[in-house]
Amino acid sequence: MASTFPLRPNMCSVRAPSPAAVSRRLSHLLPRRRGAASFRCSAAPSRRSYSVTLIPGDGIGPEVVSVARDVLFLVGSHEGIEFRFQEVPMGGTALDAVGVPLPEETLSTAKDSDAVLLGAIGGYKWDSNEKSLKPETGLLQLRAGLGVFANLRPASVFPQLVDSSTLKREVAEGVDIMVVRELTGGIYFGKPRGFGTNESGEEIGFNTEVYSASEVDRIARIAFETARKRGGKLCSVDKANVLEASILWRRRVTMMASEFPDVELSHMYVDNASMQLVRNPKQFDTIVTNNIFGDILSDEASMITGSIGMLPSASLGYSGPGLFEPIHGSAPDIAGQDKANPLATVLSAAMLLRYGLGEEIAAKRIENAVLETLDRGYRTGDIFSTGSTLVGCKRMGEEVLKSVNSQKPVAAI
Ligand SMILES: NC(=O)c1ccc[n+]([C@@H]2O[C@H](COP(=O)([O-])OP(=O)(O)OC[C@H]3O[C@@H](n4cnc5c(N)ncnc54)[C@H](O)[C@@H]3O)[C@@H](O)[C@H]2O)c1
Repeated sequence: MASTFPLRPNMCSVRAPSPAAVSRRLSHLLPRRRGAASFRCSAAPSRRSYSVTLIPGDGIGPEVVSVARDVLFLVGSHEGIEFRFQEVPMGGTALDAVGVPLPEETLSTAKDSDAVLLGAIGGYKWDSNEKSLKPETGLLQLRAGLGVFANLRPASVFPQLVDSSTLKREVAEGVDIMVVRELTGGIYFGKPRGFGTNESGEEIGFNTEVYSASEVDRIARIAFETARKRGGKLCSVDKANVLEASILWRRRVTMMASEFPDVELSHMYVDNASMQLVRNPKQFDTIVTNNIFGDILSDEASMITGSIGMLPSASLGYSGPGLFEPIHGSAPDIAGQDKANPLATVLSAAMLLRYGLGEEIAAKRIENAVLETLDRGYRTGDIFSTGSTLVGCKRMGEEVLKSVNSQKPVAAI
């Protein structure tokens, strides 16, 4: 009874379990509603319905996406939300099936949905492919196709995992940072770029850091809105003492501050920010920065938390669906062994609810369920410590589902 994504005749068919099939499999966990024959009863007037494109991808991608899908489904049944899932191929899986890393149907399905949840792509098998036939090219094409220019990467130290951080306990404890990185502009895309020869005849390589006012404004707006939903503090990171593009950046961000009087804005040079992140990371709430600084600082911030298997991300555009994915890759070294930590993808599903669908209560329910599962001592190998219970990907998923069910209504917490 699995639904099948309608691909071209020569394309692979990707089987996505139908809501009924998932409902049957999770039937022992689904909430009982008075007067409702099953959770699919549409009697609740506030019922919302969303289509979510699932892109499991390669390596551990399918393992972790399947856990996150079940968690979304169960949370939806508690919160009156119906999810219509469609599963489509991308990356190496798509290359093997149809010879391109991002099939047209995958992009169009993603564009037509309310949100996209991605596992990970890539693997040894495709490493020596030419650039246009690499799984990673499919990911860049998907981001460009969805027009997602804002990348939100939280770096939160879970109290239960504070000793996994490379920083001292007193420095790491309580860190909760959101890095908002501009994703489609700046030096990674600026022109002119290339190789040439200078006046002395020596070979040179060159790139251009360029931002327009509107590019800065749109990322700044998302950052202010994000900060407003969090601790109300926004630090804009630039290199305005040296770079013209940063001078413009700082001016535009400062201008926008008047629209957000409830957000406290500060500015910091990127070299200082990289020091402050390891010296006193708790001073930061939300950081907004350009593409290249964000690339580096978000990796630095994520390492404060200790494990790549815990970190979600969201990429958002002006309109259309957002793209939600764990920050880790396809981990081919542990793929298919039920060893992957699914929590980064589960937390990406929480971001999908909060930032993609505006379903804050459902998002909190997932985050609280993850915290409770950690409190109960369950750990995958990457976050294991003596005294806790070592579990695989599937079992971790089952424990999160139990925690979803044991949550009090979030509004009452
Ligand atoms: N967004 C993406 O899809 C994405 C991101 C990064 C890398 N990649 C691709 O993934 C492949 C592998 O790259 P890599 O090895 O550099 O990075 P990786 O993140 O896949 O793995 C790095 C290390 O972390 C471990 N790890 C990663 N995720 C884990 C999880 N959820 N649970 C437990 N352990 C986990 C892996 O076992 C490995 O030891 C490459 O083909 C790369 O191009 C894809």
